[in-house]
Amino acid sequence: MTKACVIGWPISHSRSPLIHNYWLKLNGLAGSYDRVAVRPDELTTFLQTLEAQGLRGCNITIPHKERAFSLVDSVDETSRRVGSINTVWREAGRLHAMSTDGTGFCANVEQSIPDFNFIGKIVTVLGAGGSSRAIVNELLLRGADKIFVANRTTARAAEFVMLFGPAIKAIELSAVDAVLAQTDLLVNTTSIGLGDGADVPVDLSHLPSQAVVADIVYVPLETKLLHRARQRELRTVGGLGMLLHQAVPGFEKWFGMRPIVTQELFELVADDIMSGN
Ligand code: ATR
Repeated sequence: MTKACVIGWPISHSRSPLIHNYWLKLNGLAGSYDRVAVRPDELTTFLQTLEAQGLRGCNITIPHKERAFSLVDSVDETSRRVGSINTVWREAGRLHAMSTDGTGFCANVEQSIPDFNFIGKIVTVLGAGGSSRAIVNELLLRGADKIFVANRTTARAAEFVMLFGPAIKAIELSAVDAVLAQTDLLVNTTSIGLGDGADVPVDLSHLPSQAVVADIVYVPLETKLLHRARQRELRTVGGLGMLLHQAVPGFEKWFGMRPIVTQELFELVADDIMSGN
């Protein structure tokens, strides 16, 4: 029986087991996927002993994504650019890893808005943390023309220009409203809006009516930002779909088939979130 898991510290709130066990059952596969609490000082040993633990691989979440990057044998090009990994698998006695947050984000936009095309688009991204790096990297790979990166700590946004080149324009958070009129896609990657949190300080009235607003926060399922966008009749993309889509490549590596993000899976995880687990 193939075994995989998700590791983090803390880990009790991870919805990954719900997702992978749904796909295992749906596809009649013999396998298991658990949550494992791994303290930072246990990370190296945990990864070195995957085989001894009978694990084909694992997902990696906060706070291990960056450090685990340097503990595996090989990483894909995206992880190298992004500087973190979220999916590990064993192959021929070596540990391989990839970062699927960026592809998960874009796949979610494509599934939510089928006629959306990233080529030539102007995107405004709020936040310059790990998730933002992964998303910006993937947006550029898919042909986005220009990306405004706005962050509270402007030095972090400026690093994106060094990393990704002249398609990136680093701006102050307070300057976002001024670029919204030319924005096709607005993405919130900050943790503002999480839980009962505050609202993102942007005035959506400046966005063109065909613009899309995406948030990677999925608790609540509809953040204040998305609610305001919907009230303005803009197309919106919630964060839960990204969580589901980023799980697809790992499942395929471990269990040997590419799973599908269904409406039923979306509702299963959405119900879990709404029940406050
Ligand atoms: P992740 O891996 O999810 O991207 P992260 O690397 O900790 O997490 O990044 C969190 C992002 O949210 C950062 O861009 C952070 O801004 P700073 O770089 O200035 O810290 C942003 N963020 C978090 N709380 C914020 C707040 N209250 N106001 C503005 N930005 C905030």
